[in-house]
Amino acid sequence: MKQLHSNINIAEDQFKEKVQVFSELMTTYHSRMNSVIRREQDSSVIRHHSRGKLDARKRIDLLIDESTPFLELSVLAAFGQYDNQFPSAGLITGIGIIHGKLCMIIANDATVKGGAYIHETVKKHLRGQDIALRNHLPCIYLVDSGGIFLPEQARIFPDNDGFGRIFYNQSQMSAAGIPQLSIVMGSCTAGGAYVPALSDETIIVKNQGTIFIGGPPLVKAATGEEVTAEELGGAFVHTAISGVADHLAEDEVDAIRICRNIVELIPSGDTQFFERKTIEEPIYDPIEIYGFAPSDLKKPVEIYEIIARMVDGSKFEEFKQNYGLTIVTGYARILGLPVGIIANNGFLTSEASLKGAHFIEICNFRKIPILFLQNISGFIVGKKYEHEGIARNGAKLIHAVATAVVPKITVIIGGSYGAGNYAMAGRAFNPDFLFMWPNAKIGVMGGQQAQDVLNAIKGENNNDLVNMFEEESSAYYSTSRIWDDGIIDPADTRTVVGLAISIASNKKTAPPRNGVYRM
Ligand code: COA
Repeated sequence: MKQLHSNINIAEDQFKEKVQVFSELMTTYHSRMNSVIRREQDSSVIRHHSRGKLDARKRIDLLIDESTPFLELSVLAAFGQYDNQFPSAGLITGIGIIHGKLCMIIANDATVKGGAYIHETVKKHLRGQDIALRNHLPCIYLVDSGGIFLPEQARIFPDNDGFGRIFYNQSQMSAAGIPQLSIVMGSCTAGGAYVPALSDETIIVKNQGTIFIGGPPLVKAATGEEVTAEELGGAFVHTAISGVADHLAEDEVDAIRICRNIVELIPSGDTQFFERKTIEEPIYDPIEIYGFAPSDLKKPVEIYEIIARMVDGSKFEEFKQNYGLTIVTGYARILGLPVGIIANNGFLTSEASLKGAHFIEICNFRKIPILFLQNISGFIVGKKYEHEGIARNGAKLIHAVATAVVPKITVIIGGSYGAGNYAMAGRAFNPDFLFMWPNAKIGVMGGQQAQDVLNAIKGENNNDLVNMFEEESSAYYSTSRIWDDGIIDPADTRTVVGLAISIASNKKTAPPRNGVYRM
């Protein structure tokens, strides 16, 4: 494969200044990540520890194989909403390795409003289950939750993607042969009781885990019966009397040990065949991406420099190098796995759309996972382009993206605007994973453009609209609402993409089929 050669002298002041600008964005990113992860001083965390309970992330750490990575999703869910009272939306989700098997882990954080569910908690839980379903990953639920956050019940309870969907998904996955395991480490009340009750196998921690359809206060109000939580639905009750749980654990560490033993005996699923070669580090340091990541979206981006810092050995075999130059397509490897890269290099034109659609077809038939590097302001506009059928050619690319059966991983590295978002595997096009860089922006158009459009059609000048568009297009606004799977450090992109491809290799796919292209 051809090796990319950098044309930039990283010792030059101009490059160093760009790195400096991006480093400031990274300082904000790290401080926001730390604000939700490092909460040792919070009174609820101190109280949790005083009860002898472990943090949700520590539980996960003990559950997965030693020295293996955990791909945590949507760390900043709910960030900037609800007065920041729901760090990570009170739920930790991600993919880890247990006895060599990839598993989806979904863990309540009881230090966040007793692990109660707001809208984003449900969305995050369902997204975790969705990834597990697509990729046939056993699900492990570390349960410690007060159920629905009552003041928000109308946004959580009734809809088709509400709280009940969690239990529907568990049943469907179990029926599809995807193991569902629960460790009850705290409260499981009302609907929440069905997480362990619908699991294939359930472990409960002595003197700590409780499961009941109605807690003691509700029982007292409904029937007048006075009963303690332990008598009503404690670990002894459920493992010796009701049979709701199957394994009695002495403590959390014992429960994790039992769970690991169960996973050890689960047969490994069939995986797709992606030929893995020895991993080669890029010849250019990934940290240098800071100097190339687009912090000013109006300026062109040196996409080859970014690819050179992302792929194995900085090797990239380009496809249609001299045609449709505003999209860059080519083959590479990431962490030894094959990948077809589609990256924006300007507006989407008819030629670029045809090139992208052609390349996707090849990847699809050759079973090569596709990585979309999104930095797109949209399709090209104007009379000339409409006459040459930009909508018809753009539709081919959008259709190819929608119907591709190979794993699709999207990373928004800059702007993601308008129909360009669709053509480059935005969230609605079901990529297996979608991550954003901290500088990324997403919206139907930029704030200034929205103002210009309204001005043209209504003669209105509205500064509030510009500010609203700017706020709503930030990566933090997106990740808070789980429009993506998380914001990542650009220097970690190759590691995250490599893990994502490994996970997606468990996916069971139908042979490729296209619909009608409007040729
Ligand atoms: N809705 C709204 N708020 C809830 C909640 C729920 N379902 N569950 C817990 N909270 C809140 C508490 O009000 C408290 O808020 P505060 O910090 O602002 O005072 C915080 O979460 C911590 O709860 P607390 O009861 O102090 O913690 P705990 O660790 O002693 O107990 C529970 C945790 C989950 C056992 C307990 O809060 C509880 O029983 N909650 C209600 C469970 C229930 O009946 N759910 C039915 C809904 S499906």
